[in-house]
Amino acid sequence: MGIEKRARELANIIAKQDFVRIVAHCDADGITGAAIAKKTLDEVGIKNEVKIVRYLNPDFVKETDKFTWFIDLGNGHLSKINGNAIITDHHYSMNEHPASLNPFSFGMDGEVEVSASGLAYLVASFLASPDASLAIIGAIGDLQDLRYGKLVSINRQILKKSEVEIKKDIRIYGRDKPLYKMLAYASHPFIPGIFGRIRNAIGFLRRMGIDYKKSWRDCSKEEKRKILSEIIKIMVHEGFSYEYITKIFGEVYEIDGKDAREYATLLNSMGKYGQGERAVKMCIEGKFDGEKILQEHRKRICKYMEFAKRRLDEYKSIHYFHGGNFIIDTVVGTIAGMLLREDNIASPMVAFAENEEGIKVSARAPHPLIEKGLNLSIAMKNATEKLGGQGGGHRAAAGGIIPKGMEERFLEIFDAEVRNQLMR
Ligand code: C5P
Repeated sequence: MGIEKRARELANIIAKQDFVRIVAHCDADGITGAAIAKKTLDEVGIKNEVKIVRYLNPDFVKETDKFTWFIDLGNGHLSKINGNAIITDHHYSMNEHPASLNPFSFGMDGEVEVSASGLAYLVASFLASPDASLAIIGAIGDLQDLRYGKLVSINRQILKKSEVEIKKDIRIYGRDKPLYKMLAYASHPFIPGIFGRIRNAIGFLRRMGIDYKKSWRDCSKEEKRKILSEIIKIMVHEGFSYEYITKIFGEVYEIDGKDAREYATLLNSMGKYGQGERAVKMCIEGKFDGEKILQEHRKRICKYMEFAKRRLDEYKSIHYFHGGNFIIDTVVGTIAGMLLREDNIASPMVAFAENEEGIKVSARAPHPLIEKGLNLSIAMKNATEKLGGQGGGHRAAAGGIIPKGMEERFLEIFDAEVRNQLMR
């Protein structure tokens, strides 16, 4: 059966409901997926409520009286979810469930071909005319364009139906921001020696005789050419692959003249700081106004990075740090990824942070290890479950929960998992 046919079946299940509870993950594709779902249900007159959550609390799975639409989560709990639900989750899972729209069950890769917002869009399109642009904001927020430097497969089909404009430009976030900020904040891709270092970014631009305060958009063609060629020189010198470097210039996606990544970043930040439901409302109303939220987010990231650097340590084949109760659990994974890139670390990075459930764990891995076959999602699932916790995610980015005090045991088990995978 094809993914479209399954999407239609799920739409038919929804159409029979009087009430739907939407439970979605607190990131850009969860939030846009929830907005697509809610708008669709409102349109067809099905009562609903939205809950944006950091992870799937077992209570949501157990509460069987309310029909639930799980978005961007659920694949890790398929065996426990009863018939009173549908699941549109793009996270890796080979488990089957009759009411799940799991790209991996259809031979697709949920990391590049379709995100949770795209899956929600597929289902919703059999009920109403959902906003394809929202699905694209979610896909961009989930970095689905990273591997190929553009959106492909189902994402591409949805892109064609959206209002999103495709342009050719530098694929670095912040083209409207002062150049030095754009370069210093760039994390996908990141520029070694400049990433996270404002002074170096200013020096880099000054050496070329370029006003560091102007934005990329305001640069002349000649200035753009100069900057690009200097960035490429640095990356070649640092040994980045041709494939990686060529992705710096290519497709970018804009909505009303604004980079789709800006919308996604705002939603991701809101979700991580407990404002997910407000973010869903923003998506539905189309009013994206969050400069203050983003400024606050950037300030916190800088503080967290300093904290994490001071606590960075090694355990056998992995690096790790403990964020304690200082780094908020929803952001600790982002910090782990940034640290990995900034220090050019070749091993996986594990990060811990306290939350009310116990200890949140996040793991990130550099691309070469993923190419060698490392799958953090599997390692995370196995390690957390052995300790009575829960976890999952993607090949290069995974997260989970373990009981307090189990951090060292986790490092032991996770390290063994990683080494086993890489020896195969
Ligand atoms: O929180 P973090 O950014 O580290 O999460 C990385 C990935 O791990 C996410 O895609 C998320 O869905 C997954 N995750 C999970 N269970 C958790 C936390 C995160 O499966 N408790």
